[in-house]
Amino acid sequence: MSHPPVDQRGAWRALKDHAASMGQRHLRELFAEHQGRYSTFTRHAAGLTLDLSKQRWSEQTLDMLLDLARDAKVPEAVHRLLAGERVNRSEDRPALHTALRLPADARLEVEGQDLVASVHATLDRMEDMVERFHAGQWRGATGKPIRDVVNLGVGGSDLGPLMVTHALADYRPDDVHRVDVHFASTMDGSQLADYLARLNPETTLFVLSSKSFTTIDTLSNARTARDWLKARLLGGARQEGVDESLVMRQHFIGVSASPEKMAEWGIAPAHQLEFWEWVGGRYSLWGAIGLPIALVVGMANFRGLLAGAHAMDRHFHEAPLADNLPVLLALAGIWNVNFLDIRAHSILPYDGRLEYFAAYLEQLEMESNGKSVTNDGEPVGYSTCPVLWGQLGPNAQHAFYQLLHQGTQAVECDFIAPRVRYDDVADPATRDHLMGQHRLTLANCFAQSRALMLGDAAVADDGPRPGHRRYRGNQPSSTLLLDRLTPQTLGALVALYEHKVFVQATIWDINPFDQWGVELGKTLAGETQRILRREAGLEGMDDSTRGLIEAVWAAEPQADA
Ligand code: F6P
Repeated sequence: MSHPPVDQRGAWRALKDHAASMGQRHLRELFAEHQGRYSTFTRHAAGLTLDLSKQRWSEQTLDMLLDLARDAKVPEAVHRLLAGERVNRSEDRPALHTALRLPADARLEVEGQDLVASVHATLDRMEDMVERFHAGQWRGATGKPIRDVVNLGVGGSDLGPLMVTHALADYRPDDVHRVDVHFASTMDGSQLADYLARLNPETTLFVLSSKSFTTIDTLSNARTARDWLKARLLGGARQEGVDESLVMRQHFIGVSASPEKMAEWGIAPAHQLEFWEWVGGRYSLWGAIGLPIALVVGMANFRGLLAGAHAMDRHFHEAPLADNLPVLLALAGIWNVNFLDIRAHSILPYDGRLEYFAAYLEQLEMESNGKSVTNDGEPVGYSTCPVLWGQLGPNAQHAFYQLLHQGTQAVECDFIAPRVRYDDVADPATRDHLMGQHRLTLANCFAQSRALMLGDAAVADDGPRPGHRRYRGNQPSSTLLLDRLTPQTLGALVALYEHKVFVQATIWDINPFDQWGVELGKTLAGETQRILRREAGLEGMDDSTRGLIEAVWAAEPQADA
């Protein structure tokens, strides 16, 4: 018997009715009438504390949302995900990023294959490579130790490593040969051109990160890098014994699910790191795509990141729904999007090390759940992923918080901060200053979520004020505290959001593991590129695109007559 659409089922309808009354309640009232909201709505796991008391809901709401999760068979879906069933239906494969962080003594056999052994074999190969770099033994073609590594990749092959290397820069081991890691993603070559202008080709290595190894953005950067190396290391007064194959071998590592394509491009087999089709690009930082992370923080810390994510995986698998952090975070989002009609979500870390966290989540959430057909290909009759964006909270306070406080949009916010920071700084005076700055940052974080919640009522003297000085409050938020920012808690934090996305997708009956929406633009870009190069005509172009192409042609230098 086919299941009725999600929004026709009992639990969904009951929530619609409930929202009609709850939706009118101001957070101020909810706090006034429920002492102890913090402990009612706060849960801990894997070094994280999640406070959901500033959501516009009651205990009854949460019970009803938990019914919705049961009705959508979330526990069964979690089991299918972790067991390696083919949950990515449109691509007919499992989504096993959780297998990448299983400990070596775990067992996971999927379709007759022992995945843990392959995963750990790759980790061991990464470790060998990292050790060679850190021992100063990975040498360029002219014999000098590699000093700079540039990751060429985009989307999931860029954002995860970029975010984590930034967040964990304090964990760089200091007793090793230093390798600086850089990231170039954009097809316009801006970042790459900057690196090429200042890096030494003799001591620079490129990591070509691309699951498919067909992404034009990455391959065009890679071609430019290859020619730059060849021109500088093989041209002019070249050193004896330095030839093209040596340059290719010593200056490129490939990371991909396609060994054939890496080999075709010229990556030496010994310098290829493979991962698998069952790891989605935006879920891939835990394996070979994480090589830049391991190069910065060392393999022990990289394994710590995996251990933290695994701790969250176990919590996700084992904790009851009502205590399950990913489930609760997902339900808060569902309540806001589908029942309170709040379709904007802002990610606001109060820790400069998390500078790229919002950009990372933009891909994770919107590429996963920006869908409008169900797993059976039917149009959904309800909203799915909200528009999600963010910025470091302290900077955003001086930029877009105006809209959060006084604009016309309802926005859900996630505030994220470590409880402790800087207590390990060696110099006492600097430590005091920096710990003071951390307290200042936390004060701002807590004050902002409070102001967004209470509005005018947050200040004692709430006398008459002109409209432009009024704050209506009632903006819902979640606050996530990390015990401190470590490889382990960062792993748990990222896994928390990955699983949140999965729970929401399960309730919305959509596939979070494909991204067909990106294909049309790629096809049209190929066609447009041929026209821009004058290899194809303008017929068939719409008037706007034709006008834009002609404007570019008009600005191009004329070929000699
Ligand atoms: O075009 C979108 C996308 O496929 C993302 O899903 C992916 O993370 C990114 O491009 C890069 O893909 P690849 O790793 O195959 O180069």
